[in-house]
Amino acid sequence: MNLTDHDLFRQAALIDGKWIARPDMEVTNPATGTAMGTIPDCTADETTRAIAAAETAMKGWRACTHADRADVLMRWYQLMLDHAEDLAQILTAEQGKPLAEAKGEVIYGASFVRWFAEEARRINGSIIPSPLPGKKIFAMKEPVGVCAIITPWNFPIAMITRKVAPGLAAGCTMVVKPSDVTPYSALAMAVLAERAGVPRGVINILTGRPEVIGAALTASPVVRKLSFTGSTRVGALLAEQCAPTLKRMSLELGGNAPFVVFDDADLDAVVEGAMLSKFRNGGQTCVCANRILVQSGIHDAFVAALAKRVDALKVGPGTEDGTTIGPMINAAAIAKIRSHVEDALAHGATKATAVRDLGAAYADPVVLVGATTRMRLASEETFGPVAPVFRFDTEEEALAIANGTPFGLAAYFFTRDMARAFRFGEALEFGLVGLNTGAVSHAEAPFGGVKSSGLGREGAQEGIEEYLETKAFHFGGL
Ligand code: SIN
Repeated sequence: MNLTDHDLFRQAALIDGKWIARPDMEVTNPATGTAMGTIPDCTADETTRAIAAAETAMKGWRACTHADRADVLMRWYQLMLDHAEDLAQILTAEQGKPLAEAKGEVIYGASFVRWFAEEARRINGSIIPSPLPGKKIFAMKEPVGVCAIITPWNFPIAMITRKVAPGLAAGCTMVVKPSDVTPYSALAMAVLAERAGVPRGVINILTGRPEVIGAALTASPVVRKLSFTGSTRVGALLAEQCAPTLKRMSLELGGNAPFVVFDDADLDAVVEGAMLSKFRNGGQTCVCANRILVQSGIHDAFVAALAKRVDALKVGPGTEDGTTIGPMINAAAIAKIRSHVEDALAHGATKATAVRDLGAAYADPVVLVGATTRMRLASEETFGPVAPVFRFDTEEEALAIANGTPFGLAAYFFTRDMARAFRFGEALEFGLVGLNTGAVSHAEAPFGGVKSSGLGREGAQEGIEEYLETKAFHFGGL
């Protein structure tokens, strides 16, 4: 990496304002397969210390005025923008996404900090008329308390800010456990948070194995909330572990997004939307189109146009000029993607895109025609650059396939028929619906799923509520 500010690259955990460096685990650059640095493998004991630091720091942080907290967040936001190039380099080195996309994630991540800096000043309660004379009831908003934040490898910056910024704005303190595959972005963000004036102990970052740190975080009665983004399997396990201490939970879990194209759709807009939704981060997002359902009348034109765009994608190291798809995160991810393609081909699908000769770190971006619900990719999230196209004839058929999944995170559909837009949009059982767009992620909009895709909402006005409790304060003798 060619960083302007080398201090941002920290190979250490942060507990109670102290940086703890210990070369216990290696972190691999997915493009080269070689180690880019080390991190401490934090112990249960260190997790307990981080929780205690966050508990102590809570007193001062919640006592700050909302405007003071907003100012700190605005400084953090500005520092992210000032260091966007360096943050992007760190992100690309550990996660693999192309540099231009990494910069996009820095800006996307920063937008949550700005949004919640603004929201910090609008944490209002209400005054409720009492049913009894001489009394009043105040509904007051208070911070939940110490929060545990567990973030994934696919958006190592944006998933930190989408959780930490509303928590800080609400007056909570944080113990953050970034993915052990992509810890350095979180650590760089913590350096910038210190510079922005976040007091000691308010943000603690634990690096290392998820089982040890996760078990200590979930078992602690001091931790009052857990926010997690990751798989449904791990989310359910964390919910089980949090049950004895009844923590508040926000869970942003797996998806299996349908992307439905009706005959009357604008073909150019559909192809643009499909490229964005399917190939962002190489297909490694929870909101990626996983099943592309196309009505018979537009099917062939859509496949031809999409295949042309996919053949033009440039796959390679994220640091190389013009790269549009970087390496996949690891060998297990590539094996899963390839097994989905092989299973689909064995069940009668065909490739509409050219075969490439890529290295071991990469997955072939591919459009598969003739996908059916019998294939594994119909029921499992592929999490890679595979675009399976299912053909359908009627709206009822499309709706049944789209909703025929236990997941309910994102869905997309394209039509110019306004009656259908409302009818179909309302019938989709998903937390996020994109009509004539492949983009559903903005700080201003509530983000989250239904069914097995999770609990709670991030971003938007709802995002801060997840970090607030309501106290009913009854005043008598007035
Ligand atoms: C995710 O994949 O978990 C997040 C994607 C987004 O924020 O758009």
